[in-house]
Amino acid sequence: MDQHQKYIALVTGGTGGLGTAICKRLHNDGYRVISSFNNVVKAEQWKQQMKGEGYDFDMYQADVSDYASVEKMVAEVEKNIGPIDILVNNAGITRDGQFRKMSVENWDAVLKTNLYSVFNCARNVINQMCDRNYGRIINISSVNGQRGQFGQANYSAAKAGMHGFTKTLAMEVARKGITVNTISPGYIATDMVMAVPEEIRNKIVAEIPVGRLGGTEEIAHLVSFLASKDASFITGANYAINGGQHVY
Ligand code: CAA
Repeated sequence: MDQHQKYIALVTGGTGGLGTAICKRLHNDGYRVISSFNNVVKAEQWKQQMKGEGYDFDMYQADVSDYASVEKMVAEVEKNIGPIDILVNNAGITRDGQFRKMSVENWDAVLKTNLYSVFNCARNVINQMCDRNYGRIINISSVNGQRGQFGQANYSAAKAGMHGFTKTLAMEVARKGITVNTISPGYIATDMVMAVPEEIRNKIVAEIPVGRLGGTEEIAHLVSFLASKDASFITGANYAINGGQHVY
């Protein structure tokens, strides 16, 4: 790559809590950052807020759970900006509830948004990365994919699945200069975690040895490290970043 050309990073669900911190960090690192979004109204508000903070992100709409939608988005990004060097699979949702009562809709929604999305996005960028002999794929999983969590059979299954995917893809593309890694955050101060009822959340925080929720920028720091050129010998790994809540 021309040394003056910026690496291009696509962060799915960039408008969310973790996504925002990841977009900002990669932008500060000197990448050209593209955020994918699904909710137009939220995205417009976010773009204005980011502009106010001095960040001008490229934004593309896609339903990451839908292959055709992602295919179209990636084609547009490639045409308008260029090929994607760094893919951060960050988009995710929760639909918590005991498995005994879990609906097919809540199972499907979480599997499609959190896991099928990883296939949809990686599949649409991988051959171009192979052609260029360079790439970084970073999958944002969860401590609850590593250890399970009452009420999250759907989410834990999807998040555990992400790392199975990481391990195999890492092997398949290692010779092509592409690394594939998983990050498994614990409980981070985002809207998603704040949506857990306060009483339950307080019990969870009490189980974290560090004694607090994680900060979004702490996850972004790890993304930045794995995205860097210097991290080229790290692949197929799963980084736990959970304040000591789950050690193994
Ligand atoms: N272990 C054992 N029993 C539990 C339990 C636990 N951790 N939590 C709840 N229960 C029991 C209750 O004591 C109660 O028992 P009884 O029926 O005998 O009284 C029963 O389960 C609760 O019944 P509900 O009908 O209220 O349960 P529900 O199906 O509505 O589900 C829940 C409750 C939504 C799962 C709620 O417990 C909850 O929100 N838990 C937190 C889930 C969580 O941590 N989500 C993480 C979101 S953030 C995120 O996902 C980001 C990330 O990566 C970390």
